[in-house]
Amino acid sequence: MTKQLLNVDELQVSFHTRDGLNQAVRGVSFHMGAGETVGIVGESGSGKSVTAKAIMGLIAPPGKITHGSVTFQGENLLGLSQKDWRKLRGNRIAMVFQDPMTSLNPVKTIGFQMSEVIRRHRGLGKKEAMLEAVEMLRKVGISEPERRVKQYPHEFSGGMRQRVMIAMALSCNPELLIADEPTTALDVTIQAQILDLLKKLKDESDTAVLLITHDLGVVAQVCSRVVVMYGGMVMEEGTVEDIFYRTGHPYTQGLLRSLPKRVGANRERLVPIEGSPPDLINPPAGCPFRDRCPYAFGKCAELPPVAELGEGHRSLCWLVQDKDTLAEALAEGGADL
Ligand SMILES: Nc1ncnc2c1ncn2[C@@H]1O[C@H](COP(=O)(O)OP(=O)(O)OP(=O)(O)O)[C@@H](O)[C@H]1O
Ligand code: SF4
Ligand SMILES: [Mg+2]
Repeated sequence: MTKQLLNVDELQVSFHTRDGLNQAVRGVSFHMGAGETVGIVGESGSGKSVTAKAIMGLIAPPGKITHGSVTFQGENLLGLSQKDWRKLRGNRIAMVFQDPMTSLNPVKTIGFQMSEVIRRHRGLGKKEAMLEAVEMLRKVGISEPERRVKQYPHEFSGGMRQRVMIAMALSCNPELLIADEPTTALDVTIQAQILDLLKKLKDESDTAVLLITHDLGVVAQVCSRVVVMYGGMVMEEGTVEDIFYRTGHPYTQGLLRSLPKRVGANRERLVPIEGSPPDLINPPAGCPFRDRCPYAFGKCAELPPVAELGEGHRSLCWLVQDKDTLAEALAEGGADL
């Protein structure tokens, strides 16, 4: 069995807003083994980034973690001081965000910024760190790295900047890399290249990757396990095969249907999930997907318990609880079952 790396348990995060308390994350639990690649997917606003920020110790007022725990290699991260956090972040846990421009300093060369990180974490001298930066750029597929290290971020394309961020994040060989929508701002071809790069670097190291995206297709390319989030909760969790071939939740089904498909010669078809996500300031009682679910029936006014569909395959839906509940759903005919 793989060694446990990260355990997120019953995590709850809220934000004070002018309109009231936004319950962004409402009891999220999942775990990651050492070296594992896990995807978190869900529509905009489902709580993916807030979950990632909570893991990284980056929830600040008006946000607050109100319940739960985050354990990294047996240590409860929620109790760490800012000083301990600074030691951990960028070192044993690293991250890459959607827009690399906001994370790079526009007035410092790429080489300077990369070598600073290398020096800080690995204690190398200036010259050696710069040589290492050149090597890293080469490793992430940037040609003429000796010339490129002297350039500034605006001289790099979006895809190249993201490669730099990935190289920097991996430079201290972290045990966990959190990548929050690392390809969303990029065009499709570059997206595929960055995903290939992540996969390649991942295969070459034993870094675990938590990949956050709204795109199940992206997850299928890179991850072995998937956590599907909606309305601040985990709707389904399982291997990529569970999610794609043994789908256990109507929301996951909706996400799968909304994936672009080839129909006939090159025609793409998208079936979006109708309706909009729940208001997290006044979240509905019961199943959060109820208003949009084609199968909703009476019982869905209450929150279902988590059902185990197989080893490591969980779903939060009444339809998969037991035969009697399924019969109830069928009898009510609320479903196109
Ligand atoms: N600083 C903040 N102040 C108030 N509300 C916040 C803050 N950050 C996040 N939220 C709220 O938390 C909820 C979850 O947001 P989150 O950023 O986690 O969504 P997401 O799943 O990452 O979506 P996206 O795909 O758009 O990135 C949203 O309702 C959002 O408005
Ligand atoms: S619990 Fe009910 S509303 Fe929620 S996903 Fe299942 S069938 Fe749909
Ligand atoms: Mg986000």
